[in-house]
Amino acid sequence: MKYNIALLRGDGIGPEIVDSAVRVLKAAGEKFGHEFCFTPYLIGGAAIDETGFPLPQETVDGCLASDSVLLGAVGGPRWDNLPGDRRPEKALLGIRSALGLFTNLRPARLYPALKDACPLREEVAAQGFDIMIVRELTGGIYFGDRGYRQGKFGLEAYDTECYSPMEIERIARVAFETARKRRGKVASIDKANVLETSRLWRKTVHQVAEGYPDVEIRDVLVDNAAMQLVKDPSQFDVIVTSNMFGDILSDEASQITGSIGMLPSASLNETTRGMYEPIHGSAPDIAGKGIANPIATILSAAMMLRYSFSLAEEADSIENAVDRALNEGLRTGDIAPKGAPTLSTAEMTDEIIRRL
Ligand code: IPM
Ligand code: MN
Repeated sequence: MKYNIALLRGDGIGPEIVDSAVRVLKAAGEKFGHEFCFTPYLIGGAAIDETGFPLPQETVDGCLASDSVLLGAVGGPRWDNLPGDRRPEKALLGIRSALGLFTNLRPARLYPALKDACPLREEVAAQGFDIMIVRELTGGIYFGDRGYRQGKFGLEAYDTECYSPMEIERIARVAFETARKRRGKVASIDKANVLETSRLWRKTVHQVAEGYPDVEIRDVLVDNAAMQLVKDPSQFDVIVTSNMFGDILSDEASQITGSIGMLPSASLNETTRGMYEPIHGSAPDIAGKGIANPIATILSAAMMLRYSFSLAEEADSIENAVDRALNEGLRTGDIAPKGAPTLSTAEMTDEIIRRL
């Protein structure tokens, strides 16, 4: 089979880690007899520099014409002072919205080999954890009305959180379906003691839950969820939550895995054309040094094979190669114990390819 993949390398370490994932995909393609074709498009700061816009129409059209999209990262200090709608991050929201990617899957699991990198107490880390965060990605406060207005204390800025039952229903369904294939538990995170959107969220999630009597549903307030994640992460299976709560909780979950450099993500709609990206940012401090951890992007490519192309065996092969490299003690700088030898981005990629 031939698959067309749009590459959005972006800024900072984006190009380095995307190139690593491309090399892994090519190697997996050779091994299993698939042809992956890659077409690069501009996004983020790189697109601003070249065209003046963070998300050129050509990029949107290219993604829509592709079978799937692989994204590195966008943003950096060079573009930090641009107005909100011309920042690199705006491109990310724009492409999520243009492709209708309302589901964001962010798996966070503790690799046995990385237990020492987990900042939690030893007995908590020893329990391990394997969480799937299902984050709503095209609604909520990220996409609500915003601006400036006259308020009680003069000029004020405002952002608004909006959710319709339809948006909550469809993401809840994804969470329950996902839980069915895992350990059968959903924790729905909200702030229903304060927010109207959260009260609608809770009510709607419970309506959807009626169709899934085999799945356990539990509501957790977001402040408590933040606490429970570091107290006992093993209690969670699937977490479903709004755009902003999901953004925050997934960063917290990534830290307890040892490094944000490990976590992949899949952004999905009702079609098979998803977008896959590491959950970390563009890391401008280490850009161009060749030392970034490519694993989150390589695992994102594995998710692409699994979710967009239904190539489960090929995805397993990549994930197992990463496991093996870690089990054999291979480390990039972010996950290496102090003083231990570290591999460059390219070396880690070579080692993973060798283990496919
Ligand atoms: C993420 C990022 C983005 C988000 C930013 C860069 C817009 O933090 O993918 O988690 O908040 O969604
Ligand atoms: Mn984030």
